[in-house]
Amino acid sequence: MARLRELLKRVDILGVIGDIDCHIEAVTYDSRKCGPGTLFVCIDGFSTDGHKYLGDAAAAGATACLITRDIEIPAGVTAVKVADSRNAMAAVACELYGNPSQRMHLLGITGTKGKTTTAYIYWSIMNSMGYTTGMIGTLGNYVAGNKINTGRSTPTTPESCDLQYTFTYMMDSGAQDAVMEVTSQALKLSRVAYTEYETGIFMNLSRDHITEREHPDMEDYFLSKAKLFSMCKQAIINVDSEYGIRLLSMTSVPVYRMSLEQADIYPTNIHTDHMGMTFDLNTPWGSARVNTNLQGKFNIYNIMAAISACCLRGIDIATAASAVSNVYVPGRLEEVNLNRPYKVLIDYAHTPDSLENVLRALKEDATGRVICVFGCGGDRDHGKRPDMGRISCSIADISVITSDNPRTEEPDAIIDMIEAGAKTAGGKYVRITDRRSAIKYAISIAAEGDVVILAGKGQETYQMFGDRTIPFDERVIVRQVLEELDNEH
Ligand SMILES: Nc1ncnc2c1ncn2[C@@H]1O[C@H](COP(=O)(O)OP(=O)(O)OP(=O)(O)O)[C@@H](O)[C@H]1O
Ligand SMILES: [Mg+2]
Repeated sequence: MARLRELLKRVDILGVIGDIDCHIEAVTYDSRKCGPGTLFVCIDGFSTDGHKYLGDAAAAGATACLITRDIEIPAGVTAVKVADSRNAMAAVACELYGNPSQRMHLLGITGTKGKTTTAYIYWSIMNSMGYTTGMIGTLGNYVAGNKINTGRSTPTTPESCDLQYTFTYMMDSGAQDAVMEVTSQALKLSRVAYTEYETGIFMNLSRDHITEREHPDMEDYFLSKAKLFSMCKQAIINVDSEYGIRLLSMTSVPVYRMSLEQADIYPTNIHTDHMGMTFDLNTPWGSARVNTNLQGKFNIYNIMAAISACCLRGIDIATAASAVSNVYVPGRLEEVNLNRPYKVLIDYAHTPDSLENVLRALKEDATGRVICVFGCGGDRDHGKRPDMGRISCSIADISVITSDNPRTEEPDAIIDMIEAGAKTAGGKYVRITDRRSAIKYAISIAAEGDVVILAGKGQETYQMFGDRTIPFDERVIVRQVLEELDNEH
């Protein structure tokens, strides 16, 4: 509980109606969650304008509100006008919960690809070493090994009030450490404003999230990600990425450069095979041999970043490196154990870049054919569709073009766009709109030594059509279609 004036001390106030010294004990942007003592933040968002719900918030008992334009204020409610209500909400949330990020060791990871994987590896190492550690990201929110259900909606990076609350929840559960994926959207929309990171990691930047709604262009995308590096005390930056090099010149905190070539953090003696990889990791904190069952060279970056972050936290490199050998990442080249002479892998790759990385990695180690089942999500970047078609058809032996999450788009119209790129590559492909049928087909043609890769869904266990979401867990589907195929024979 605190006075509103106190909670707003870092915010420029443009006007006040009512009592700014009122007591506040909760903050939300959802009028349905308001009650006495609540500060309701009116956010003019993508799908709706929070100002419209001020009446509902007041009826539910809200004590005060933050507004960005002059509107009629219900009687008895204090209103404070600010320029940017998302930013103000973040400031209030940090104060209300006592600035939890200042009291924790927080690791933030940004980049187009590798955030979830790196966060997961770090979190696994830390917990296995006895550090109770929280994790916030695509896989959900966890503390130690337990999933946290805060009853609040959670995109990869939660809204500021949910985020700060989650930090305090983690601390109450005994965590002094946490790792989070910091998306460019979250940085742009002030979800993590006023959060203090001990270490920030920049993985890479490639074409994704370039839509009118998210980022108008690559520059906006890059500058959003770059914000993280003014919010951390030290940074690990992948300098094999041209944007990483640019970021170096913009970053004033101590930086550890990560590369596949010689740098502060780099690998030598890399050996890969179908079982995984081994390499020597060289860092300012010493060297250690890493043994991992993760596949794909890009995972070397993820592992290097995760282990280095552990070293920055004071953990011995050899101990951290040996913990990696037990780490499996859900939905990241995850094998469905079937006891068949071919392999079925599930991977989250849903961008040209990651599809290319995954397929190249599989192709390098394959003894048979690589059969790739993939699609592209609806209501998202159209530019990547032909690229993904071209990439799959130039690397995989057989591409099965299907649906991802069509959302409000016509599935076949999305596939047409993918096919336009597929045609230019010359590789073998088929189109099967229904994803389940596509998986069944791919498995039906798999022969000894082949690898069937189901790209796009990863850990997701649903498929989204229009405003309908249906259960779709590929681990389950693979087993079902196999049984059907066995019965058909
Ligand atoms: N360091 C990397 N560089 C390039 N590709 C990667 C890297 N790490 C993982 N990938 C590929 O990208 C896919 C997504 O990885 P991951 O979920 O770790 O990334 P993310 O940054 O969390 O993505 P999202 O923003 O979609 O949550 C993986 O399945 C893999 O195919
Ligand atoms: Mg992620």
